[in-house]
Amino acid sequence: MERGWSETKMQKVNLAEKFSFINDYFNPRIIGELNGQHVKAVKLKGEFVWHSHAHEDEMFMIVKGKFDMELRDKTVTISEGEFFIVPKGIEHKPVAVEEVHLLLFEPASTLNTGDVQNELTKTKLEKL
Ligand code: NI
Repeated sequence: MERGWSETKMQKVNLAEKFSFINDYFNPRIIGELNGQHVKAVKLKGEFVWHSHAHEDEMFMIVKGKFDMELRDKTVTISEGEFFIVPKGIEHKPVAVEEVHLLLFEPASTLNTGDVQNELTKTKLEKL
């Protein structure tokens, strides 16, 4: 059943349920919004592209699994129960060997591939 976005406000969100609706990778869904920010749920598996966001910090919070956040000078492995914030302007590339479920917290204006436009770029995100 299709629910209007406004009807989903003031209702609790079950992350396992949201992730059960996602059957693809690197395709974030909006599952909440507050203060001009989006809360997005996304599954990753494989390598993303190097990119940066000129104006937005990006928070990655792992719900299930783990992945490597490659930065130009180091690689940070982020595991379940951990989060990592990529500051604006910093190049990053997520790499997930196994499937990982994560939440993104970022301004509504943030594009998933940042300064890069390619087949992975998602301009219109579905709301779950
Ligand atoms: Ni990014």
